[in-house]
Amino acid sequence: MITLGIETSCDETAVAVVDKGQVLSDEVSSSVHLHAAYGGVVPEIASRFHTEYIFSVFKKALRDAKTGIKDIELIAVTCGPGLPGSLLVGKAFANALSFAEGLPLVEVDHVNAHIASCFISDQEEDMTDLFPFLGMVISGGHTNIYSCRSLNDFSVIARTKDDAAGEAFDKVAKILDLGYPGGPIIEKRAKGLTKHPEIRFPRALLNKKTDVDFSFSGIKTAVLYYWKDCRKTEEEKDKICSSFQEAIVDVIDKKVLRALELTGAERLAVGGGVVNNELLRQRLVLRCQRSGVKLYLPEKKYCTDNAAMVAFLGEKKFKAERVRA
Ligand SMILES: Nc1ncnc2c1ncn2[C@@H]1O[C@H](COP(=O)(O)OP(=O)(O)OP(=O)(O)O)[C@@H](O)[C@H]1O
Ligand SMILES: [Mg+2]
Repeated sequence: MITLGIETSCDETAVAVVDKGQVLSDEVSSSVHLHAAYGGVVPEIASRFHTEYIFSVFKKALRDAKTGIKDIELIAVTCGPGLPGSLLVGKAFANALSFAEGLPLVEVDHVNAHIASCFISDQEEDMTDLFPFLGMVISGGHTNIYSCRSLNDFSVIARTKDDAAGEAFDKVAKILDLGYPGGPIIEKRAKGLTKHPEIRFPRALLNKKTDVDFSFSGIKTAVLYYWKDCRKTEEEKDKICSSFQEAIVDVIDKKVLRALELTGAERLAVGGGVVNNELLRQRLVLRCQRSGVKLYLPEKKYCTDNAAMVAFLGEKKFKAERVRA
């Protein structure tokens, strides 16, 4: 089934073509450069960008996939969560196409799609055969753990009480005046550095053994105070980046262990932009090896927002509904 995916929940205008789980094209045009001066996404700028670029991104996705609109059999579109004005552009575009071409339309939850991205390149196993599993999204807007029981049943078992992990990366980069988005820049500056015992940022909510929720706003404030009083050198920035990254990864690692122990899960799928981070990936691999848990991570190109994950999950949802009907 050839599925067209459309994703416009934040600052990426993305369209992809997926056929029976195989990605034929995956086009992304990002307005990230327009938000860089503000240190975060400006909703009005993001939605205007979607309006301007969605049609050309759509045409390029069809071209790259060597398909025409007449080959498309299903449209999948992100319905939320996300910026309302941005989501509206994708949904209106999808609705118009669906009406004009008489194509079925399936709505896909953005966060569920991040989890589904873990299974895109897995040719051996079908995601639908792997339920139940533990899902996790570590992104710019979420740091949540889900109990995933079926395509329509992803229920939250842990969440961040304040900032998401990606948001913390972005805010710390802003404090250090490093640019936006913060995650890749901080990872680069931390690279190759050993640990710095003299800089230890707090790890929140680790005291109670049953607490799997996250909190990342304290660490951002700790970085702010440290930065105010330290020597403001480039070397000091690198050390802060390294210690900050270590603290975030450490907390996620410990919470994942807790969640695995509390639920007895045998499989874990972790998606979202922060999963680009190499230290985090390595630590998750190690954790799951030690716990005897099968780990699914997305290829790096599917970590941040993309439409391939939307088409991939949309196709599975549509087929499952058809079987049930
Ligand atoms: N290498 C990296 N290390 C750490 N964080 C990273 C890395 N690469 C990207 N990020 C972070 O990932 C986030 C973007 O991820 P993503 O696109 O999944 O988020 P979003 O779509 O804005 O949020 P959500 O999916 O929750 O709606 C940013 O906060 C960015 O800093
Ligand atoms: Mg996202």
